[in-house]
Amino acid sequence: MRLDNRVALITGAGRGIGRAIAEHYAREGARVAVADLDQATADEVVAAIEARGGEAMALVMDVTSEQAVSDGVAAIVKRWGSLDIALANAGVQHIDPIHKLAYQDWLKVIDVHLNGAFLVTRAALQEMYKGGGGTMLYMGSVHSMEASPLKSPYVAAKHGLAGLCRAVAKEGAQHGVRSNLICPGFVRTPLVEKQIPEQAQELGISEEAVIKDVMLKHTVDGEFTSLLDVSELAVHLAAFPSAALTGQSMIVSHGWHMQ
Ligand SMILES: NC(=O)c1ccc[n+]([C@@H]2O[C@H](COP(=O)([O-])OP(=O)(O)OC[C@H]3O[C@@H](n4cnc5c(N)ncnc54)[C@H](O)[C@@H]3O)[C@@H](O)[C@H]2O)c1
Repeated sequence: MRLDNRVALITGAGRGIGRAIAEHYAREGARVAVADLDQATADEVVAAIEARGGEAMALVMDVTSEQAVSDGVAAIVKRWGSLDIALANAGVQHIDPIHKLAYQDWLKVIDVHLNGAFLVTRAALQEMYKGGGGTMLYMGSVHSMEASPLKSPYVAAKHGLAGLCRAVAKEGAQHGVRSNLICPGFVRTPLVEKQIPEQAQELGISEEAVIKDVMLKHTVDGEFTSLLDVSELAVHLAAFPSAALTGQSMIVSHGWHMQ
């Protein structure tokens, strides 16, 4: 298995993409800390992993809380002795045009994606440096590379994660830490399901048109990216054997945005 004996922290892993990666990591032999705001969903993911013979622990962690993040990382190290992989995945979306966007809504999105990723990075690096290395991963998006209307704080935060990832790659190298950004296209998770009617209303078009003409318009085949597609990339980046692959942003999007 590709992640045998590795200890991984995944934030926002109670559902959606984070959950799928947690389950895939466990299938690949990792011990997985499933961190989320909500104890019940984190417990459910742990139960699903354990039912298949994997090892996991649930952590209630708001990534915007310094205390919650450092307590969570301490709990992982107490239980399993190290932290080898950390994926800052927790995220929220907010749909509004910039001229109507409330400052609070701007702050909230930036806080969860970017400030949360910083807190997870700082706590994780302290353990990885002690242990002689590790892998930092960030859940970016095609919106780390380009913009769409109505999503300004999300686009700004996802671009910011590319910068954080590169900074970690530079600083982490001498401590054996690699850092990469995963950039999915649209995946049908609760985060995306919620946006479909919101965007339809804001743009004055049907929900079918939001899917076909907005979300999937620039893919090569009109297909959503799947949870397995994103999970496979997350395993590949965590398992990669050397610092040949660090500081990079990898797009998994059915061809939407080619570099
Ligand atoms: N779904 C997509 O199409 C898509 C595409 C590109 C990138 N992404 C990114 O993937 C990540 C996961 O998105 P998803 O689609 O699975 O969303 P989702 O809404 O299904 O899941 C997000 C999870 O994050 C958790 N979360 C939210 N705020 C948190 C906080 N402060 N602390 C801890 N956990 C928190 C939620 O409880 C939830 O379990 C996000 O960073 C998102 O931006 C999603």
